[in-house]
Amino acid sequence: MGLSESRTLFLFLLVPLSFLPAVFYYRFQDKPNMVHPQKCHHGNISILLWHWPFGRPYKLDRDVCLEMYNISRCFLTDNTSLFSNADVVVFHHQELSRGMSSLPLHLDRPASQKWVWMSLEPPVNNANLTQFNGLFNWTMSYRRDADISIPYGKTLLGGDGQGFQAATNHSCLVSWVVSKYRPDQTRAAVYQRLKNYTSIKVYGKWNKRPLSDKELLPTIAQCQFYLSFENSEAKDYISEKLWRNAFQAGAVPVVLGPIRATYEAIAPPDSFIHVADFKSIADLAAHLKHVAADRQAYEKYLQWHRTHRIKTYRDWRERLCQICVQYPSLPARKVYQDLEVWVNSQD
Ligand SMILES: *[C@@H]1O[C@H](CO)[C@@H](O)[C@H](O)[C@H]1NC(C)=O
Ligand SMILES: *[C@@H]1O[C@H](CO)[C@@H](O)[C@H](O)[C@H]1NC(C)=O
Ligand SMILES: *[C@@H]1O[C@H](CO)[C@@H](O)[C@H](O)[C@H]1NC(C)=O
Ligand SMILES: *[C@@H]1O[C@H](CO)[C@@H](O)[C@H](O)[C@H]1NC(C)=O
Ligand SMILES: *[C@@H]1O[C@H](CO)[C@@H](O)[C@H](O)[C@H]1NC(C)=O
Ligand SMILES: *[C@@H]1O[C@H](CO)[C@@H](O)[C@H](O)[C@H]1NC(C)=O
Ligand SMILES: *[C@@H]1O[C@H](CO)[C@@H](O)[C@H](O)[C@H]1NC(C)=O
Repeated sequence: MGLSESRTLFLFLLVPLSFLPAVFYYRFQDKPNMVHPQKCHHGNISILLWHWPFGRPYKLDRDVCLEMYNISRCFLTDNTSLFSNADVVVFHHQELSRGMSSLPLHLDRPASQKWVWMSLEPPVNNANLTQFNGLFNWTMSYRRDADISIPYGKTLLGGDGQGFQAATNHSCLVSWVVSKYRPDQTRAAVYQRLKNYTSIKVYGKWNKRPLSDKELLPTIAQCQFYLSFENSEAKDYISEKLWRNAFQAGAVPVVLGPIRATYEAIAPPDSFIHVADFKSIADLAAHLKHVAADRQAYEKYLQWHRTHRIKTYRDWRERLCQICVQYPSLPARKVYQDLEVWVNSQD
């Protein structure tokens, strides 16, 4: 082998190898305690929900995961007497943090039992975390780096086959549904400035124009755009305000939340307008008016319906059944020694 050939070979090997540490770093940086994925779990998995989120119970008759979601060997219960038989015990944060429920620290915890900290709220709503350090094995949240990721919605490949037809009979430009308006939130400031340039139909408790579940989507569908403004701008926090309110209504979302790259990774392609893309709110308003008046430009934001569809999650049972789907690949040994740091991490 001549000198130049061996150098070529050397580079050929070295260049790809030099990426390996980066790949490993990426794969494992959020799972520092991960050793090896669990052996395939062939038996039944029993999941105990210690208390229902927000005190609203759902029926858990018979084999819910199989009957509703075609997930077999996955048994949900909310009967706390079955604690010692549970493979996984799930605790929803709000009730723990407010003292409406407490951890079973007085009970013998089986060695292989996993405790799951669950919350769908952004960090600002997850208070009183330090008391839970060193107790939980897994996290369950909308975050992509949670052990069990339970987003509000997701994008699937393949159109829904219902044919794509942009509505032509809109009666308004922009709508917004807001129940808890707080002037100190970024979304309030953006709204206050945007409404200087364009009229915005506002619904919800704040405006004393609440919409029933049935009225919600048809009302939003009357306008071309919907303000999918999250109440908190946090890593990966994209709520039903995007998935359900905008996408399911067929309105084009104007988003305020995590950075554009997050939406690009999670939402369908070319499906949203990001507030941060504009130098000023005046520019944003001008863009909305331009797109509204140009049918082709508007339809560009709806093209994704041909190639993608979305799925939303609203039922806690479906989320809990997801634990079984992910169970075989969840970290076998892990403890959250500092839950507050994990919850508040932004990178
Ligand atoms: C799993 O659960 C089903 C239904 O309760 C039961 O018939 C079966 O014996 C269980 N299998 C194992 C391995 O425990
Ligand atoms: C249910 O899941 C099984 C395997 O997990 C699959 O073969 C079957 O097609 C699924 N049934 C439905 C109705 O989706
Ligand atoms: C909960 O489980 C215990 C122990 O199996 C049982 O005695 C009790 O009846 C169950 N409670 C309910 C409400 O199903
Ligand atoms: C934090 O804990 C205190 C004392 O247990 C409680 O009074 C308070 O409501 C909790 N805060 C939140 C936001 O859950
Ligand atoms: C909205 O417009 C009014 C009148 O032009 C102006 O006084 C106000 O400062 C503007 N508000 C914002 C938040 O830009
Ligand atoms: C627009 O027209 C479609 C079909 O004619 C109708 O189903 C829909 O309710 C209309 N939407 C609005 C907002 O009027
Ligand atoms: C789960 O967490 C508990 C509490 O920190 C710990 O004692 C236990 O070893 C953990 N289990 C696994 C399998 O990592």
